[in-house]
Amino acid sequence: MENRIEAGADGALLVPDEPVIPCMPGDGIGPEIWSAARPVLDKAVAAAYGGGRRIRWREIFAGEKALIACGSLLPEESLQAIRLYRVAIKGPLTTPVGEGFRSVNVTLRRLFDLYACIRPVVYLPPVPSPLKTPEKVDMVVFRENTEDVYMGIEWEAGSKEAAEVAALAKRLSGKEIGPDTGIGLKPISKQGTQRLVRAAIRYALEQGRDSVTLVHKGNIMKFTEGAFRNWGYEVAAREFAGQTLTEKEAREQYNGRIPAGKVLIRDRIADAMFQEIILRPERHSVLATPNLNGDYISDALAALVGGLGMAPGANIGNGYALFEATHGTAPDIAGQGKANPSSMILSGVMMLDHLGWGEAALLARSALGEVLRRRFVTRDLAGHMPGATEVSCAAFGDLICEEIGRMKEGA
Ligand code: NAI
Repeated sequence: MENRIEAGADGALLVPDEPVIPCMPGDGIGPEIWSAARPVLDKAVAAAYGGGRRIRWREIFAGEKALIACGSLLPEESLQAIRLYRVAIKGPLTTPVGEGFRSVNVTLRRLFDLYACIRPVVYLPPVPSPLKTPEKVDMVVFRENTEDVYMGIEWEAGSKEAAEVAALAKRLSGKEIGPDTGIGLKPISKQGTQRLVRAAIRYALEQGRDSVTLVHKGNIMKFTEGAFRNWGYEVAAREFAGQTLTEKEAREQYNGRIPAGKVLIRDRIADAMFQEIILRPERHSVLATPNLNGDYISDALAALVGGLGMAPGANIGNGYALFEATHGTAPDIAGQGKANPSSMILSGVMMLDHLGWGEAALLARSALGEVLRRRFVTRDLAGHMPGATEVSCAAFGDLICEEIGRMKEGA
């Protein structure tokens, strides 16, 4: 079918000049940030390729809007569109609390086996940061997306199932779990770990990044987090021998330096890593981590570069990709024009890169950087930035579009 992105035999995407891309503006501030982001992406593509390429957006329903229109938070037609077109983008979606439905986001990740949650975190000056030298922050988190406690295998305190699992645990480990205790499972597999670490190492090699840090809590959870570490080193040694080296090898063979073109594979205990991202952010480039650690560290990193409004994300699987603003629906500011659309815009920029449309991605990213540099910002940043001009969500998007036009003329 025309205008469809296809996956080649090697997994690489085959992208037509006018691909159809399903979009879900989302709930809460979703429609505002999407209305600001979409023209930026269109303008960047038009400016980069002079009309030779264009995205044919197709809006699909998900979240509250879908519930009202179709009676389901995630209608089958929306799933079919993602299945067909392979690459999609979404704003934040409301997760109803305590209604038996875990999360639209988690469901989408599971259905399309989007096993890697990728979050680049880089500082864009002069965005306010709690760090003295935020320009040292330039990390990309690869978070495993399908396993760990996020699988949701858990039993309520006092339930028959919890009692059965407690009895089994007592038999197998000798340890007592009391009847007032909820129990959850934490499955982490070799296959799940290795495809994630493989993706992180490939990315580091392709992007010329010099290290991949495996972030785990293996000192305590040996057969889950500890195994993640061991399987990570194993895949590096087996599949990337000659392209990767360990800290010991770097010390003994290269005097502690990382030779050009090689990627250092190291590991850090998760709690120590939280110190390192603050005290020595320049040491770390790509992080690979199980699901829960990745959840925490991604948001902690986002806080170092201006908060969730600035942090983009992508969920990638084999032949499928879903790009998303990483924050929630921000109901406290929805409909007031105060939302920061940067996360949504930068997620779209990641999508352009993923399509292989790097020129458009560069234009959009540079234009956003220039508007920030001139200190035009939304409410979330304006209060902490001396000399800032506060603009609405829509006006911020307009300024970036104008900047793309100027950059194109000046080129
Ligand atoms: P939230 O991210 O929506 O808001 C946390 C704080 O950050 C609020 O003060 C909000 O105003 C602010 N904020 C978030 N995005 C912003 C932006 N772009 N510009 C300026 N300020 C921004 O998190 P919360 O309140 O925990 O969740 C609200 C809803 O969002 C819930 O229903 C939750 O399930 C959903 N959610 C959805 C996500 C997704 O679709 N990926 C992720 C996280 C939460």
